[in-house]
Amino acid sequence: TTVLVLNGPNLGRLGSREPDVYGSGDLAELDRVLSAAAPAGWTVELRQTDDEATLMSWLHGAADSGAPVILNPAAFTHYSYALRDAVALVTKAGGTVIEVHISNPHAREEFRHTSVISAVATGVIAGFGFDSYLLALHAIGLRTA
Ligand code: DQA
Repeated sequence: TTVLVLNGPNLGRLGSREPDVYGSGDLAELDRVLSAAAPAGWTVELRQTDDEATLMSWLHGAADSGAPVILNPAAFTHYSYALRDAVALVTKAGGTVIEVHISNPHAREEFRHTSVISAVATGVIAGFGFDSYLLALHAIGLRTA
């Protein structure tokens, strides 16, 4: 099994971006943590883009390959209907897309309280720092077993 871990805009700046909110770990560390936690024989493929179109093409690829997806849509969470549609085309075809957030958006500004993604995601995990991704990986393991 290859698990795709897709990260949206500004998450390439993890480590230096608002460490009080997102912690001091960078994407390379997240990659190490997830790879170390992956069950034997599993591959974790971590990607990040600031570009909405690139996220679409990665989700289209997941629809074709059936790879389970852990998605941190970052700010796209709150307004991208195009990303929502791309997630829906995966999940409505039986694929898995778990929405994750490092912070708990519900404890933050009002505009972060709305996710246009959640209703079409398989499930949502938020507020546990990098552990949100680990919990999502665990959930995929439970569904795959
Ligand atoms: C985030 C929360 C979003 O509101 C924000 O725009 C991000 C990161 C999180 O992981 O906590 O960029 O998705």
